[in-house]
Amino acid sequence: MSKAELHIDGKKIELPIVEGSEEGKAIDISGIHARNGIITIDPGYSNTGSCKSAVAYVDGERGILNYRGYPIDQLARKSTFVETSFLLIYGHLPTADELSAFREKLVKNSLLHEDMLHFYDGYPTTAHPMGILSSMVCSLSSYYPDFLDPSNPEHVECLIPRVLSKIRTIAAFAYKKSIGQPVIYPCNSLDYCANFMNMMFAVPSEKYDIDPEIVKALNALLILHADNEQNCSTSTVRMVGSSDANLFASIAAGICALWGPKHGGANQKVVEMLQYIKDNNLNVKTLVAQAKDKNSGFRLMGFGHRVYKSYDPRAKVIKDMSRDLLAKLNRSDPLLDIAQELEAIALEDDYFIERKLYPNVDFYSGITYRAIGIPLNMFTVMFAIGRMPGWIAHWKEMHESSDNRIGRPRQVYTGSRVRDFVPIEQR
Ligand code: CMC
Repeated sequence: MSKAELHIDGKKIELPIVEGSEEGKAIDISGIHARNGIITIDPGYSNTGSCKSAVAYVDGERGILNYRGYPIDQLARKSTFVETSFLLIYGHLPTADELSAFREKLVKNSLLHEDMLHFYDGYPTTAHPMGILSSMVCSLSSYYPDFLDPSNPEHVECLIPRVLSKIRTIAAFAYKKSIGQPVIYPCNSLDYCANFMNMMFAVPSEKYDIDPEIVKALNALLILHADNEQNCSTSTVRMVGSSDANLFASIAAGICALWGPKHGGANQKVVEMLQYIKDNNLNVKTLVAQAKDKNSGFRLMGFGHRVYKSYDPRAKVIKDMSRDLLAKLNRSDPLLDIAQELEAIALEDDYFIERKLYPNVDFYSGITYRAIGIPLNMFTVMFAIGRMPGWIAHWKEMHESSDNRIGRPRQVYTGSRVRDFVPIEQR
């Protein structure tokens, strides 16, 4: 095994190098403090690997994302969300029997405890559904107190289909409650995505036809969001789970992390930005200039990524998908035209070229959600439903790993040096 050398104050420290199965090497610094009393610092963890993982592989320079080795564009075209969820969580593509057993478990676990319906009554109609989603997912832990031990594989197996299935019911009910319509219960004869569409848009008073093109697009969208290795929300799920907090609590924390506009919340912000351009008849170049001006406090939403320094492979698929879907539905969306114009101008601009800022997954996803009929404030909820198998896979992988330790970063203290307490009358 090759080694790295670190020289501090004339002292040589040899550090092992960890090699991945694809491109990617890491210097193992875990023993430095114990042996030499010095830590490493890396705000935002841009150069820190927090774990070894076999779930997904990202090559940000080449714009590659594979789940368990399978390229995401192939999965988006050929797989279903349920099949890809199985792949991420259990590590292999399911056989027909495995898939049907997994589907059956999801079907059986789609209902919420009836008492949970009362929770929705406590929220104002203006409540953002991400807050509702997070608290409802955490509340699920109250209903399974005997199955919360992360080290017990039977408990974990019991909770996986529950959280994956119920998140979609929680999300659809939150939407129905916010618009004052009766909730539509899950229907066992429908598959995962069709069931979700039905819960979102059916009403008891008339028949709702589920468009297979929309179901296909939704499957692909959820697949494309299903994992992206150690992003902010997944790292949060791992961090919270590392204290042996239960699966529901860990995922609820991940949902909160995803909500932020620098992460999953960007999909809502992108469409708000495009709508603002349209409503105010703004010149797209003005907005690009504003994004370049550090004093404006404005960033081009849906652009840039910590890891992807070329076109985000997910954005590529979603961009084509949004165009195809609108064409199939025989619709147009002026926001798609604005988005394409914005992208073309930004990609020719030195500021974006030098910083390698490209459209990310959130740039075109909102336009596709609009075409499907998903309301604006539910966009990030859709991301959360999609990311669920990734969160579960990482949480499970972490607990099964032999080097699982509680996540506890260190710091370099920069505050006051030790001083004596001053009584209040002397201050
Ligand atoms: N518009 C304008 N400038 C930008 C943008 C942007 N969207 N993104 C980064 N920059 C600039 C930034 O000002 C900095 O410039 P300089 O080097 O002159 O100081 C440089 O590019 C590097 O940016 P950074 O903030 O250090 O990069 P980061 O890796 O810490 O942040 C990011 C990544 C995604 C938070 C950031 O690019 C951003 O805020 N983008 C807009 C929000 C967004 O679309 N988020 C979704 C991310 S992808 C999906 C997901 O993870 O959920």
